[in-house]
Amino acid sequence: MPLLIKNGEIVTASERYIADIFCENETITRIDENISAPAGAEVVDATGKYIFPGFIDPHVHIYLPFMGTYAKDTHETASKAALVGGTTTFIEMICPARGDKPLEAFELWLGKAQGNSACDFTFHMGVTRYDAEAEKDFREIVKRGIASFKVFLAYKGAFGVTDEELYHTLKLAKSLGVITTAHCENADLILELQKQLLAEGKTGPEYHYVSRPPRVEAEGVHHLVTFAETLDAHVYIVHLSCGEALQEAMHASARGVQVWVETLIQYLLCDKTDAEKPNFEGAKFVMSPPLREKHNQEILWNALQKGFASTLATDHAPFDFSTQKQMGRGDFTKIPNGIPSLEDRINLYYTHGVKTGRIDLHQFVNTASTQAAKIFGLHPRKGTIQLGADADLVVYDPNYRGKISAKTHAMNLDYNSFEGMEIQGRPSVVTVRGKISARDGKFVGENGRGKLLKREPNHF
Ligand code: URP
Ligand code: ZN
Ligand code: ZN
Repeated sequence: MPLLIKNGEIVTASERYIADIFCENETITRIDENISAPAGAEVVDATGKYIFPGFIDPHVHIYLPFMGTYAKDTHETASKAALVGGTTTFIEMICPARGDKPLEAFELWLGKAQGNSACDFTFHMGVTRYDAEAEKDFREIVKRGIASFKVFLAYKGAFGVTDEELYHTLKLAKSLGVITTAHCENADLILELQKQLLAEGKTGPEYHYVSRPPRVEAEGVHHLVTFAETLDAHVYIVHLSCGEALQEAMHASARGVQVWVETLIQYLLCDKTDAEKPNFEGAKFVMSPPLREKHNQEILWNALQKGFASTLATDHAPFDFSTQKQMGRGDFTKIPNGIPSLEDRINLYYTHGVKTGRIDLHQFVNTASTQAAKIFGLHPRKGTIQLGADADLVVYDPNYRGKISAKTHAMNLDYNSFEGMEIQGRPSVVTVRGKISARDGKFVGENGRGKLLKREPNHF
C-alpha cells in the first residue's frame, strides 16, 4: 500500500525543511509540498514532528555464543526492539569460534536472521582465525555482499587474533576493498592483570575495570593503526570508550591513516561507578572495554559533535542478570560481557544530546544513521531521505515524555541498564521500506520481513 507522510519537518545530515513524503514500492518516490493522497494510500499526519532517516546501528550482537552462554535476544525480539526505538537497519557481528569454518558461520548467522528479523540487516564478518582455507571463505563471503571484516584484539583464546592473523586480515581487506572493524584492547595485558587480581582475592565486578584500564585500550588502538598504516588499510575502531584511546586514533588520522571511530550510548551515560554497585548489581554494567571515569563522557560528546567519532552505536549484547551475569559471581572474568541498548540508543541520544544542545539535529542524524551508511556501503539506499532511497523513516515526536524500564521494554532481557532514566522524545511511526513497522512504542510490522543488505566493496 502506498504511504504518504504529511507536514513533517524532514531532517537529514545536511537539510531541514517541511514537506510531504510519498512512498511506493518500498522507496521514496516524491518529496514535495501539498501532495494529495491517491486512492488507497495510508496517510500519516506528522505535523509538529521530525522525520528522520531510519537509524542504523552499525554494531550489534544477536546470535552470540560467548563466555559459556548465548546472548538472550533472537532476531525476532531484537529487530522488534530496534524498530520500536527507531533503528531500521542493524549490522550484526558474525563471531565464529576459532575452529569454525567462516563460510559455514556466515550461512548459520544468515539463516538465523533471514525470515526472523523484521528490519533490514547486514553483517561484519568476524575473522577469528586466518589461514589459507579461511581466506578462501572470506573471499567468497565478500562476493556474497559482506563488505566488512571484524577482528578482536582482545579475548585471547576465544575470538582474538594473533598479530600475524591481523596482518593478513588487513592485507586481504585492502586487496578486496573492504573495511576492517576492530575491538581494540591488549589481550595479554588483560590476561596478566586478571590473573593478578584474582590471586589477590579481588573477584567482584568492580575489578573488571581494573583489569582493562584506559592504556590497555589505547595500546590496542595504537596497535591496530600501526598495522593499518603499514598496509594502507581502512579500519574502524568499535566501541571506543576513553580519551586515551581517542588520542591514539586522532594522531593516526592526522598522519593520514584511514581510521574511523565508533562510540556507544553506554559510554556517554554510564560510568565506572555503575559497575561498582553493591550486591553484584555492578555486573549489569560489565562490558568491554569497561565503563570509564566520568570525565571521559565530555570527551566523547565532544568527539561526536566535532566528528572525531563518526558513529554512535550500541554493541547490543544482552545477558540476563538473574541467571547469566550470575556466572561471574566470585570471579569477574566469568561475567558475560555486554550491556544491551538497541532499543534505547536513539531516545537517549536525542534526550541527552539534542535536548541539552550538545549535538545539533543534523549531527544527531549523521552520527546515528548517515555515517554508518556511508562507511559501510549502504548509502544512499539507507541513511538519508531522498528520491529513490529505501522508505525507512522515523516520524519522531519531540514532545513525548516517558521513562525507560525493563517492565516495558521489548528486548528479551530481565533488566535495563538505563532503568528509570527519562526520555524526552520517541518515534511515533517507524517505517521499513514503506511499511509501518512500529507505532508509539509498539511493534506493528511483519515478522521476518527484513532483508539482507548486500554491499559492494570499494565504496570509499
Ligand atoms: O562487552 C562487550 N562489548 N560484549 C560484546 C562483545 C564485544 O566485545 O563487542
Ligand atoms: Zn568488542
Ligand atoms: Zn561488540
